[in-house]
Amino acid sequence: MPAISATAPGKIILCGEHAVVYGKPAIALPVIQVRTKTTILAKPAALSGKVQIIAPSINLDTDLTHLPEDHPLRKTIALVEQELHVNALPACEIRITTTVPLGAGFGSSASVTVSLARALSNFLGHPLPDSSINLITYEVEKIHHGTPSGIDNTVITYAAPILFQKGYPIKFLDVLNGFILVIADSASASSTAEMVEGVRERWQEDKAKYDQLFERIALVTTQVYEVLCKGNMANSGALLTENHHLLREIGVSTPILDQMVKAAIEAGASGAKLSGGGGGGNIIAVVSPGSVDRVSAALLSNGARNIIVTAISGKGDSTHE
Ligand code: PMV
Repeated sequence: MPAISATAPGKIILCGEHAVVYGKPAIALPVIQVRTKTTILAKPAALSGKVQIIAPSINLDTDLTHLPEDHPLRKTIALVEQELHVNALPACEIRITTTVPLGAGFGSSASVTVSLARALSNFLGHPLPDSSINLITYEVEKIHHGTPSGIDNTVITYAAPILFQKGYPIKFLDVLNGFILVIADSASASSTAEMVEGVRERWQEDKAKYDQLFERIALVTTQVYEVLCKGNMANSGALLTENHHLLREIGVSTPILDQMVKAAIEAGASGAKLSGGGGGGNIIAVVSPGSVDRVSAALLSNGARNIIVTAISGKGDSTHE
């Protein structure tokens, strides 16, 4: 039996993070320059039911039964088995490799879960529909992130630009005019769960203030949505900068993220913001083709460890430089 593989991209949040946890809309985009691949190889000669799971990025090479039941990888496998009414897997080796940076706002956990759940359901001969993959991934995201909004699993499952709002159908975006994003990694990893928890504590202390900030973020997100559908994001980066300032007010930016945002704008970006949970991770900057190099260089000399340049188009296609 040949090996079965499935991949999943990374993602970034264009706007609306944190507010999305409180029921506001947010926009997320797939990033295909980074991805996770899961390959499953049947091992008919191995001990019956022995599943070896190998994930070099987290130094894992173990028998599946040695993982705790609530380990995200074991949980993913259990959820796929449950969905497909399978009692136990045939003996196999599951190898997960990823180029998605961990803890950097690229949705590494959702990317791993989507690729594993897809590969596994294909391996079992019953490819699951996106809707089931999405639900399974959401369950596993809860182990990683506590109370996730569901945006990461959704954008990564469907690998297309989305407007996401809890409790509403997913809106796939038809981006009218493509634009370029520079994504710069601040070299400091952060825990999304901790950032979300910190915001929740501050919200509980002053609900009126935070509800108003979430409302203002929602307003910006709605404007970005309008621009994506009807206008030109390349000239509307200021909306993202406004979103960054609101994220600062809710306490999730850091001096280095602020410095990178400022440097990107000074170097010619039409706007910039932190992306994702904050406290570290990435900033994104909207740039014109002519300013990609200048903005990238400014970011690298202001604390960025790594740069990814992504061209966003309506169909979620991206190109790499
Ligand atoms: O840190 P990231 O890129 O996984 O994004 C988290 C986005 C939040 O809105 C902060 C949390 C969530 O679950 O939506």
